[in-house]
Amino acid sequence: WVRMVTAQTPTNIAVIKYWGKRDETLILPVNDSISVTLDPAHLCTTTTVAVSPSFDQDRMWLNGKEISLAGGRFQSCLKEIRSRACDVEDEEKGIKIAKKDWENLHLHIASYNNFPTAAGLASSAAGFACLVFALAKLMNAKEDQSQLSAIARQGSGSACRSLYGGFVKWIMGKDEDGRDSLAVQLADEKHWDDLVIIIAVVSSRQKETSSTSGMRETVETSLLLKHRAKEVVPKRIVQMEEAIKNRDFASFAQLTCSDSNQFHAVCLDTSPPIFYMNDTSHRIISAVEKWNRSEGVPQVAYTFDAGPNAVMIARDRKAASLLLRRLLFHFPPNADTDLNSYIIGDKSI
Ligand code: DP6
Repeated sequence: WVRMVTAQTPTNIAVIKYWGKRDETLILPVNDSISVTLDPAHLCTTTTVAVSPSFDQDRMWLNGKEISLAGGRFQSCLKEIRSRACDVEDEEKGIKIAKKDWENLHLHIASYNNFPTAAGLASSAAGFACLVFALAKLMNAKEDQSQLSAIARQGSGSACRSLYGGFVKWIMGKDEDGRDSLAVQLADEKHWDDLVIIIAVVSSRQKETSSTSGMRETVETSLLLKHRAKEVVPKRIVQMEEAIKNRDFASFAQLTCSDSNQFHAVCLDTSPPIFYMNDTSHRIISAVEKWNRSEGVPQVAYTFDAGPNAVMIARDRKAASLLLRRLLFHFPPNADTDLNSYIIGDKSI
């Protein structure tokens, strides 16, 4: 017999960024962060996990290619879920797995991203969130979403925020064992459904400095990060929660853009400096700033993760269609920009 579970998880984009760990193994951050979960139709991971007595080892395929499972992060997530596995009985298929059997059973995992892997589009976020969710279902682990988020966090920090739709906060927590470092939903997907997300895929190439090594170097060398984590982010988190609650787009946009810019400033303050944005990214920032100023009130927020791709959040459909028209005019895909496509989606699942 084979028991299979398939799950689909959207990626999330941080509007108040996570950058820097206080514990590398448990993946505990130096500050809280807040994100928006995207529409799964556009950027998501689909993962199928299967268990069978005929499997003789754990194996995984990412986008059809077999990958190694030796990494500590995958093993941590698997260990956590295995320790919570329960009895499974599927009479129809004649499957009966006792709690104690899970230790000796092997898994086959197939995962697909419908977007470029490791190009700064938070693929690890959707990937680990989906893996943990699918494994929990397969093994009948009866954890709630927040507890699962603390497990997904050990795969990749940003993954803990993809277990919920809408607006999500990753609470950094205080405990040394990380049990209080988990995600909570601030508002569900229906709360602010005017927002429209447009992603400019400036480059789908693999980024040069991974988030993991980049943030390690930042923690070791940047003084600005200490100031950011202690003085700036705590205030912004309060303001951002308020802006989301009141659907206050002007504050939301101001906080989102400032926080993205400070994150990239912190990367520049790292020794040696890390450059995630490129010339096209900078030109998009200038254009959006100019459009917002000419409109009087902000129409669009922008944010960039560890890569050159621009994530823009328009206040409503009208602003989004105007933005897209302007983008296509000033930044046509495959012209002198190295921009290759736009992805348009709702914010939520
Ligand atoms: C810039 O979650 O990819 O996207 O925890 O080392 O796996 P690890 O890093 P990762 O970092 C994401 C950083 C970011 C900001 C964010 O998503 O908050």
